[in-house]
Amino acid sequence: MKKSGTSPFLLFILFLSLLIETSLADPRSDTVELRCETQLEHNTSIFVVNFFDMMEIIGNKISHSGSAVAILGSGPDANYGLGQCYGDLSPFDCALCYAEARTIFPKCYPYKGGSIYLDGCFLRADNYSFFQEFTGPGDKAVCTNATQKGPKFLLSARQAVLNAAAAAPSQGGYSRSVVPVTGSRNESAYVLANCWSTLNATSCRACLGNAAASMIRCFPWSEGRALNTGCFMRYSDTNFLNAEQNTGHSTGNIILIVVAILSSVAVLIMGVAIGVCMWKRRRIQKKRGANNVVELEKTLHDSSLSFKYSTLERATGSFDDANKLGQGGFGTVYKGVLPDGREIAVKRLFFHNRHRAADFFNEINMISTLEHKNLVRLLGCSCSGPESLLVYEFLFNKSLDCFLFDPSRGKALIWEKRFEIIKGTAEGLVYLHENPNSRIIHRDIKASNILLDSKLQAKIADFGLARSFQEDKSHISTSIAGTLGYMAPEYLAHGQLTEKADVYSFGVVLLEIVSGKQNNASETAEYSDSLVTAAWKNFQLGTAEKLFDSNLMFHNYNNNDEIKKEILRVVHVGLLCTQEVHSLRPSMPKALQMLLEWDEQLPAPTNPPFMDVRTMKLNDSGRDQGDLGRDIQKKSMPIAT
Ligand SMILES: *[C@@H]1O[C@H](CO)[C@@H](O)[C@H](O)[C@H]1NC(C)=O
Ligand SMILES: *[C@@H]1O[C@H](CO)[C@@H](O)[C@H](O)[C@H]1NC(C)=O
Ligand SMILES: *[C@@H]1O[C@H](CO)[C@@H](O)[C@H](O)[C@H]1NC(C)=O
Ligand SMILES: *[C@@H]1O[C@H](CO)[C@@H](O)[C@H](O)[C@H]1NC(C)=O
Ligand SMILES: *[C@@H]1O[C@H](CO)[C@@H](O)[C@H](O)[C@H]1NC(C)=O
Repeated sequence: MKKSGTSPFLLFILFLSLLIETSLADPRSDTVELRCETQLEHNTSIFVVNFFDMMEIIGNKISHSGSAVAILGSGPDANYGLGQCYGDLSPFDCALCYAEARTIFPKCYPYKGGSIYLDGCFLRADNYSFFQEFTGPGDKAVCTNATQKGPKFLLSARQAVLNAAAAAPSQGGYSRSVVPVTGSRNESAYVLANCWSTLNATSCRACLGNAAASMIRCFPWSEGRALNTGCFMRYSDTNFLNAEQNTGHSTGNIILIVVAILSSVAVLIMGVAIGVCMWKRRRIQKKRGANNVVELEKTLHDSSLSFKYSTLERATGSFDDANKLGQGGFGTVYKGVLPDGREIAVKRLFFHNRHRAADFFNEINMISTLEHKNLVRLLGCSCSGPESLLVYEFLFNKSLDCFLFDPSRGKALIWEKRFEIIKGTAEGLVYLHENPNSRIIHRDIKASNILLDSKLQAKIADFGLARSFQEDKSHISTSIAGTLGYMAPEYLAHGQLTEKADVYSFGVVLLEIVSGKQNNASETAEYSDSLVTAAWKNFQLGTAEKLFDSNLMFHNYNNNDEIKKEILRVVHVGLLCTQEVHSLRPSMPKALQMLLEWDEQLPAPTNPPFMDVRTMKLNDSGRDQGDLGRDIQKKSMPIAT
């Protein structure tokens, strides 16, 4: 009310972050097939440079336009590249899918090129112009032989396949078709057809014709994909398509049209916003990166932090799936063994920017100086190789969430252990926040970023998001850097980043450790309370014990008043950390002190954000932020579960 001028902007940001959230749902970045050429590249020193520049150029263009080509070099050393996202991916998902394609694609090296088909995008490279090709010897269908379907589905699937293949050539190469069967949902058929943007309508029609014919041979199986030279097609009995509105019927439905227009406008706005962000960031990076490339080369050479790409490749068995430890927001983590027998964890980043190698290395350099018993050691990186790789110490026990949210393994975490983990996490955060050289905000504290060593000691992981304080604090993409459910409302809504954002996330982790429940996974119904809200309500009613993890009760702490008091105190501190008003949250050192020093009287917590999703009633009138946060929380629930 008082600042009406800001609210359209806030709404816009909210809308944007919801869109980004929604689109995060599925970039469909699973690889269907990687095909490598059989001839070797012609001249390594020219090829490698061109190859990675080609992927970078496509990466810079693809999320704007959905497809991109790049041509580098000439003669036998030429490098032609084509990237294509399928039409139902948002720009953001397109960037994610392509990022995945690009981390896998270098496996084809030293062959002169190849093709990779993912469920959301495609990438091909070779040393000649293949852009007009729509058929080739590799064309084939891949069937998923999971369930056999009945005649009803086969009829609807055939119809949807034909519809999609017929419609795409005149619609810019992309179409989707849904043939619904009322009554039994899995008799409905979902089809996507997409030609590469370099084909004309005639070639596109021919390609999809071949694709449809080969894919239909997957009948009666429930799912099939055609991987052709000029196009991709997929049918399924489950809805893998990205947009919500059903385009399969009732074209007269005005609401559908309005939704379609609105969402395409929104996608456009988002594309522009992402574009502006990327442009800004690139400008900043250019300014920073240009100066000291030569110096960097030398530093890299001398530094013990620098690992050879080939060493890490060998250590992880060429990034073998069997060595995969997990997938984070910014990359995939593999276990590796160095030649001297040391075990390591290698994080293979989705995003790679050779021109930023100097900055990147400086960041690594800074982070590697952080040494604390509750931080995962960063051992170094491969910064200037074909991909960006981070090397961490290997921890035996995986992350806190694997224990906490697992019904049987949760029993291994007795309260004393849990309290040790809480204390360790707090100490690690205090160290980051108070680091004299440059204070560091982690930004993404959550149960899966707290790793446990063989003694179940907490070690905070993933400094990929940690940046030193001074750097650009405000761009929209930061709002997708954290994890929903752990993000402080002011950070989520305004991108406003202070240490108090970490304090908020820490508070959520405290409540999770006490309850054994995940902050947003418990919300099965749209209007049920989040863990934080539930904790606040129970605390107000004096029934906080209801929150306690049944795995803790298993150890019969009910009869131990000392421990019960300690658990209650942790709930209290958790609520102080998750207060909506960030200035009221304690600092990390203060929170640690509250946890350890019992004679100190704790203040009563004020409300957390998103107080009452049911009534949507504002209980604190002064701020506009509460409303906004509530909306985000409410909308995000179905996505989060
Ligand atoms: C590869 O290209 C570089 C630069 O043009 C040239 O110096 C080198 O001799 C070439 N290598 C081979 C094996 O042709
Ligand atoms: C592509 O590379 C292969 C193998 O290096 C070579 O034989 C062929 O001539 C090259 N094609 C073109 C068009 O230069
Ligand atoms: C479409 O492209 C193919 C392959 O390049 C070409 O042979 C054909 O003539 C083109 N058709 C039209 C109508 O432009
Ligand atoms: C629908 O799918 C479920 C499980 O996926 C299966 O149990 C059921 O039999 C299917 N129904 C029909 C009519 O195919
Ligand atoms: C799946 O089914 C197709 C078509 O019936 C068949 O050609 C293919 O060999 C099967 N694949 C497997 C792995 O069973």
